[in-house]
Amino acid sequence: MAYEELEVIKEKCASCEKCGLCKTRTNTVFSGGVPNDKLMLIGEAPGFYEDKQGEPFVGKAGQLLDKILGCVGLSRKEHIYICNTIKCRPPENRDPLPDEKAACREYLDKQIEILKPRIILLCGRVAVNSFIDTNQGITKLRGKWFEGPHFSKMMPIFHPSYLLRNDSREKGSPKWLMWQDIKEVKKVYDQLCK
Ligand code: URA
Repeated sequence: MAYEELEVIKEKCASCEKCGLCKTRTNTVFSGGVPNDKLMLIGEAPGFYEDKQGEPFVGKAGQLLDKILGCVGLSRKEHIYICNTIKCRPPENRDPLPDEKAACREYLDKQIEILKPRIILLCGRVAVNSFIDTNQGITKLRGKWFEGPHFSKMMPIFHPSYLLRNDSREKGSPKWLMWQDIKEVKKVYDQLCK
């Protein structure tokens, strides 16, 4: 029932003209995965492939994200709802501008309000800065739990594009740290399922 409300917001978003990105987009990218009340991931913004397909995280970074989730038995088909801070691709994949983020925020807030996920993963700097007022970088913040909207637990995690640029799996490397974080997320997720 609540999930039908998401469809209404999605349709409204598909014809949104609240910022200039509506002029350059092919598709709005509202969400992927499954609507659920446990686990949500918020990324930055759609890229080239996401814009073409209308699906979040379908490029190389998305494939890596699926692999990471899969390592702990989580999949976008069954367990996680995926969205972004903004729903249209910024030209040349630049960072979203403050007015674009502000214009799009109502859609993200509605997604959170409707689903009330218990765990929210903030994927990368842009998502982190949308929820946590801090000067600290993602390297300091990742893996820590923060209090999120609607009594959720929020955790900043590295963006998979960053991991694609850092190949090492040595102890302490970004990929190794991501592995620690996703194991912690799965532990808390499993507790919610008990
Ligand atoms: N990067 C993001 O942050 N979101 C996407 O949907 C794709 C790539």
